[in-house]
Amino acid sequence: MDIRFIDFKIMGDERGSLISLEQNKNIPFEIKRVYYIFNTKKGVRRGFHAHKKLKQVLIAVKGSCKIHLDDGFDTKEIVLDNPSKGLYLDSLVWREMYDFSDDCVLLVLASEFYTEEDYIRNYDDFKKHVYSKG
Ligand code: TYD
Repeated sequence: MDIRFIDFKIMGDERGSLISLEQNKNIPFEIKRVYYIFNTKKGVRRGFHAHKKLKQVLIAVKGSCKIHLDDGFDTKEIVLDNPSKGLYLDSLVWREMYDFSDDCVLLVLASEFYTEEDYIRNYDDFKKHVYSKG
């Protein structure tokens, strides 16, 4: 599964911490879009899609959540709870986010502008895309 954590350097001093994210440097693509998910209600599970082309880095800048990943062959459950770790996801990875803490702010950096065309929202279609690629 083409996922990996990126460790961000913390510029910390007596005042606190700072992390800087730069396209094609510590983020391995050109950043076209940034969004964040917050105020997620208890028990919510969201996502339920994969992308045809888009790559992402997800960072729990505050609080925590879990993410279920599936590349059509293997599945993984990952905890996001560290603002200095980004989870890099290639295209064609099915994801579902859950167990959001009340204070969770999940920051997402994306390699593409928002377009519904890039989404695969049906799991069987996702499998077809994976097998046609492999
Ligand atoms: P949705 O795709 O349901 O979020 P998730 O996959 O995390 O469960 O997105 C919620 C709504 O926001 C949906 O109407 C699409 C819209 N949206 C945008 O307009 N721009 C964006 O960049 C994103 C991520 C979503």
